[in-house]
Amino acid sequence: MASRGGFSSRIGFILAGAGSAIGLGAVWRFPYMTGANGGAVFVLVFLACCFLIGVPVMIAEITLGRHTERNPVGTFQLLHGGRLWKAVGALCVLSGFMIFSWYSVIAGWVLGYLWEAVRGTFNTAHTADEVGRFFAAYVSHAPTVLFLHFLIIAATAGIVLRGVKEGIERLSKWLMPVLFVLLILLAIRSVTLPGAGAGLEFYLRPDFSKVNPRMLLAAMGQALFSLSIGMGTMLTYGSYLAKREDIPASAMWITFFEILVSIVAGFAVLPAVSAMGQSFTEGPRLIFVVLPSIFAMMPGGYLFGVGFYVLVIIAVLTSTVSILEVPVAYFVDERGWSRRAATLFVSGVAFVLGIPAGLAFGASAFFTSLPGLHTDFFTVVSTLFGDVSLSVGCFFIAVFLAWVWGVPRALAELRTGGHTFRLAPVWAFLIRYVAPISILVVFANLLIGLFAD
Ligand code: PHE
Repeated sequence: MASRGGFSSRIGFILAGAGSAIGLGAVWRFPYMTGANGGAVFVLVFLACCFLIGVPVMIAEITLGRHTERNPVGTFQLLHGGRLWKAVGALCVLSGFMIFSWYSVIAGWVLGYLWEAVRGTFNTAHTADEVGRFFAAYVSHAPTVLFLHFLIIAATAGIVLRGVKEGIERLSKWLMPVLFVLLILLAIRSVTLPGAGAGLEFYLRPDFSKVNPRMLLAAMGQALFSLSIGMGTMLTYGSYLAKREDIPASAMWITFFEILVSIVAGFAVLPAVSAMGQSFTEGPRLIFVVLPSIFAMMPGGYLFGVGFYVLVIIAVLTSTVSILEVPVAYFVDERGWSRRAATLFVSGVAFVLGIPAGLAFGASAFFTSLPGLHTDFFTVVSTLFGDVSLSVGCFFIAVFLAWVWGVPRALAELRTGGHTFRLAPVWAFLIRYVAPISILVVFANLLIGLFAD
């Protein structure tokens, strides 16, 4: 433990975990996914997945990591060593590379928007239609997009290399509450706009006819993605956690914060979408089109907007750092690389892997509309390495803990700090049956849906 460094307190761990969880998943992806997948009913499935799969698997990951004090690959190897589990470990590392690659593209847009907000671009282009035209031109300009993508990757690598990760997390302790307050103010502005009613209704009144196999995968994937589980991030963080800490309580807090931010982000965006006559199904561009126009309609909107983008960038960096951590820990622990070499290598590869995702919004006709697939490269890669890979990862992590390593050993680890964990039977039931079976049901539905098409 001492040689790997560690979290000095439970608050430190919850902060790091919440820092990993809260990022683009809550602020950007949750509103657009809710918009694209039918509104309130998506939110219900998302919440169910957070509690039935998210919390149990987060507890499982942290427990495994704390027990082995290793990365995902090393953890599976130490506790079992079979081929299948090697492959699951490899999938975790691969997800780390891939998610880092496309996530940094979107984070780059946020950085670009920060600069544009500072320059006052949105003072002149401020209706949603104007911002929409600005956005389309902006993200189809390859040099800009790739440069911003590079900056995010470089900043993340820089934070890891300079060892200032804890510093950023401590900083975020003060800044994330500010981001939350800004989101609440935005939500108030949004729900009081004329025409917000349709958006509110869309967000709050479930329409069960919108349930379909793809929407179930999207809601489940969104829950896992935004909780940073299914690729060993929480496992790796758990490997730095002291024995005396209360894992279930930490997992509950992290999940609570993540849900809170997501739900408020939905209130900030969706009512404004209808108020501005935009469509809910805009996809990844949704918040980039809507938010600048809300800022324009708020007193002090200029400063508000600038502050908002700065805070989102901080939230993003505490997430990208946690994504990078998984492949880096793998190369350092399992391959004996130096931290520096591992960080530079993973970052360089992720930059290259992210290029097609960056070009998928107009810069390259090919990646914007993949021949034969009727969709863009970004949607494909963020669905595969996001929704699908994290679901598969969570399934195997749950099965591994419950059926290979065993719940009794996990409970012994969970209780090392002298915590009672009164909900242990509930957790055991969720991790043995509910979490893996729900994931299987979602995939079975998808397969049936594919053949029915
Ligand atoms: N949860 C992070 C976010 O919402 C993204 C993430 C996914 C981080 C997977 C780590 C692992 O921004």
